[in-house]
Amino acid sequence: MKFDAPITIALSKGRIFKQTLPLLAHAGIEPVDDPETSRKLILDTNHPDVKFVLIRATDVPTYVQWGAADIGVAGKDVLMEHGGEGLYEPLDLQIARCRMMVAGFEGADLSANRLRIATKYVNSARNYFAAKGQQVEVIKLYGSMELAPLVGLSDLIVDLVESGNTLKANGLVPLEHMADISSRLIVNKAAWKMKHSTVTQLLDSLREAVQQ
Ligand code: PRP
Repeated sequence: MKFDAPITIALSKGRIFKQTLPLLAHAGIEPVDDPETSRKLILDTNHPDVKFVLIRATDVPTYVQWGAADIGVAGKDVLMEHGGEGLYEPLDLQIARCRMMVAGFEGADLSANRLRIATKYVNSARNYFAAKGQQVEVIKLYGSMELAPLVGLSDLIVDLVESGNTLKANGLVPLEHMADISSRLIVNKAAWKMKHSTVTQLLDSLREAVQQ
């Protein structure tokens, strides 16, 4: 594939990177170095016009929003928190799938007043309960949310659930489904205009890879 413009793609290490690679390979793009062993943050690819930047998952929308990367792959959970300003989200890559859930002890009263919710997804939690007309107190955590109800820090948590094993191991249950999560291709709005043919070419090829 020959591109008209250079393209920078923002990716995060781990699951998203691993599951995005086969899709990019379909478009003929492969990294030159292995990100698991290399400590480089900018990776060349076999394609002269394409490079990867490797950043934390929560930073991907920020890099793309500000145009430091033209394109990125970000989880819907991260996009819901970020708000999506300055971004287009043209393709669901259908990878890294899970659900965002409200969880807690079995039989917990979800309609109680002034519930305390521990989560790293503060905006998603606030918006979700606000849409139900419920006032809640949201406590920001950075991980291990399952601990919060066990030690009385919160009544409930908002977290990602895949197999449900983490909740189960801690005596908690999923209570309400908030959103289906998967990784999305995001595009900087200016790049969408200025590099339209290149972005479209790449998008079409990725869409084909997803549908296979
Ligand atoms: C996620 C999530 C849950 C767990 C759910 O954490 O926060 O803790 O996975 O998966 P399960 O339903 O299959 O048990 P992750 O391990 O991704 O790390 P995190 O603490 O950085 O969120």
